[in-house]
Amino acid sequence: MWESLLMLSALGSLPFISASPLEVRQDSPSMSMSVTTIFGPPTHSFHTSQPHTPFSGTPSTTGALTATSIGKGITEAASIAPAETTYHGDGKLHNPEPAPYVPAGGVGTNGSIPVYNAKSDFDYESLALALYQEWIELDLFNDGLRRFSAEDFTAAGLNQADRELIAFMAQQEVGHATLISNMLGAQAPQQCQYNYPYTNVREYLDFCQKLTRFGESGVYGFLSHLNSREAATLLTQSITTEARQQMIFRQFEGLFPMPVWFEVGVPQSWAWTLLAPYISSCPSNQTRLVWQNFPGLTILNQPSLFTGGNSSNATASAMNNTLGAGTNVAKFSSGSGSDSSGVNGTYGSLVTPQNYTRLSFPGRQVALQWDNPGQLVGPNNSYVTSTSAGSPKYVAWVSQLNVTYTPLNVSGNRGSTIQPDMETYEGDPAINGTMFIAITDSNPFLTPFNISMINPHVVAGPALYQAG
Ligand SMILES: *[C@@H]1O[C@H](CO)[C@@H](O)[C@H](O)[C@H]1NC(C)=O
Ligand SMILES: *[C@@H]1O[C@H](CO)[C@@H](O)[C@H](O)[C@H]1NC(C)=O
Ligand SMILES: *[C@@H]1O[C@H](CO)[C@@H](O)[C@H](O)[C@H]1NC(C)=O
Ligand SMILES: *[C@@H]1O[C@H](CO)[C@@H](O)[C@H](O)[C@H]1NC(C)=O
Ligand SMILES: *[C@@H]1O[C@H](CO)[C@@H](O)[C@H](O)[C@H]1NC(C)=O
Ligand SMILES: *[C@@H]1O[C@H](CO)[C@@H](O)[C@H](O)[C@H]1NC(C)=O
Ligand SMILES: *[C@@H]1O[C@H](CO)[C@@H](O)[C@H](O)[C@H]1NC(C)=O
Ligand SMILES: *[C@@H]1O[C@H](CO)[C@@H](O)[C@H](O)[C@H]1NC(C)=O
Ligand SMILES: *[C@@H]1O[C@H](CO)[C@@H](O)[C@H](O)[C@H]1NC(C)=O
Ligand SMILES: *[C@@H]1O[C@H](CO)[C@@H](O)[C@H](O)[C@H]1NC(C)=O
Ligand SMILES: *[C@@H]1O[C@H](CO)[C@@H](O)[C@H](O)[C@H]1NC(C)=O
Ligand SMILES: *[C@@H]1O[C@H](CO)[C@@H](O)[C@H](O)[C@H]1NC(C)=O
Repeated sequence: MWESLLMLSALGSLPFISASPLEVRQDSPSMSMSVTTIFGPPTHSFHTSQPHTPFSGTPSTTGALTATSIGKGITEAASIAPAETTYHGDGKLHNPEPAPYVPAGGVGTNGSIPVYNAKSDFDYESLALALYQEWIELDLFNDGLRRFSAEDFTAAGLNQADRELIAFMAQQEVGHATLISNMLGAQAPQQCQYNYPYTNVREYLDFCQKLTRFGESGVYGFLSHLNSREAATLLTQSITTEARQQMIFRQFEGLFPMPVWFEVGVPQSWAWTLLAPYISSCPSNQTRLVWQNFPGLTILNQPSLFTGGNSSNATASAMNNTLGAGTNVAKFSSGSGSDSSGVNGTYGSLVTPQNYTRLSFPGRQVALQWDNPGQLVGPNNSYVTSTSAGSPKYVAWVSQLNVTYTPLNVSGNRGSTIQPDMETYEGDPAINGTMFIAITDSNPFLTPFNISMINPHVVAGPALYQAG
């Protein structure tokens, strides 16, 4: 193995014969050992120097994609389908084996030929949403490297190898965007132009950490609901990479890398609500999405390393420590809070902190403000925020495997609630990490596989709450 790797690198200096994708090339027989080289198929084309400015024109179309008819809504079944509970899990085999060592059952296990495409509107719209996400990540990872200098990164505790890692993440996004574009076909959404809120490296890292959180969780929300198991397989193999990116950005920021036992999944419309505000415009023939944009939700006292951590001082209603609704990226100025402790030990990759700062705690008061529906958002300001919920009554805390609710103390478009104390499993506090909250009109019981049933009850949000 080592020898062939070494030989490959030695060959790297030889002129390459131009080769078509997937061509298998045998090297000169005069060499003591031949190396099989397989070139990858081409990647989708992409821009690297788009402007990053807000959209100022007039949209040529407005509103989410809709079908010819829209039903009245989805209601929970009266009972569990009997077939769901007939298998007897006693550790014995209950059916003949199709082959030695092969248990009966499974889907796509009988020799059928896998086809890696969308097989329903649900599949297409979910994959298209994921593609919008991959495109913004490709642009975002490059944008920070272009916008901030090496010195700026050094001051935030990141060295050249760290910057190279971010550049590599951008390359990973080229692969992800290509993969999903190929599965969707000719009308796959194209790369757009974006507009970001951050003004310095610390805010950039916080933005990346939060954007990759909803990118990852947005996919977990629909992955196992796809008709196309084939597409789900490839998407899983992309999103696990994104999960690693999210964790690395948390570490770059000085946060505990993975403070939860389970990564949460959220509905597509939640991911689209969080993503759309950063897309300024898309090409004129862009394929549009069906998903809902909910009204924006701002956390007025977002927990943040920049304000010293474990911020109990939540009552101050005049606070506004984020760059805006949705992602709620913490504002950072060089004078901010605990920053004087510097790069040696509290953030950046230079060292792992000896002690991580606790950011929030059960009993913390959280101050919120939300927008009215009817605002123009997203590419070319061509989507409109909406809600079908009644009046605001609860804050939904969506984290790990759980959705829990706390009462909302409402005053106009502002309100406050108290951070709950709940475990997912014994010894695993559910409220931690980069998680989701939303304002709801009721408190339906939801589990990871039916979490999208929350959508008709969302008044505003989601917002990303930095619990830890
Ligand atoms: C495999 O099973 C599917 C149903 O899950 C069926 O439609 C298909 O015909 C089967 N293929 C083969 C090769 O038996
Ligand atoms: C938009 O037009 C471009 C250029 O003709 C084409 O490559 C692309 O596939 C089109 N996109 C959609 C979504 O139709
Ligand atoms: C989150 O988890 C980390 C790591 O276990 C812990 O240090 C921190 O106190 C937790 N935060 C909260 C809010 O529970
Ligand atoms: C969105 O705006 C861009 C830039 O002004 C323009 O080229 C494009 O045609 C617009 N797209 C739509 C769908 O209006
Ligand atoms: C965080 O602050 C709360 C309220 O002031 C306090 O009760 C708690 O002990 C603090 N936790 C840590 C880990 O400092
Ligand atoms: C909360 O903030 C107010 C005003 O900034 C300050 O006077 C007070 O000391 C703070 N309380 C705590 C517990 O930090
Ligand atoms: C918070 O401040 C930002 C500017 O830093 C502003 O854009 C935003 O509207 C403010 N939010 C609230 C709720 O006041
Ligand atoms: C971090 O450590 C380096 C080397 O010990 C030192 O030169 C630098 O001044 C320190 N920076 C801060 C902000 O303490
Ligand atoms: C980390 O926490 C431990 C236990 O609370 C304490 O003994 C130690 O001094 C702390 N280290 C630093 C660098 O703050
Ligand atoms: C509810 O909010 C009001 C101010 O909007 C405040 O005076 C009151 O104490 C709050 N009540 C609770 C239970 O937090
Ligand atoms: C949280 O999720 C776990 C795992 O599904 C479940 O066992 C537990 O009952 C849930 N807790 C609450 C409060 O819903
Ligand atoms: C979601 O699923 C759980 C079972 O896991 C069920 O008890 C609950 O009623 C469902 N919620 C809705 C709104 O359908």
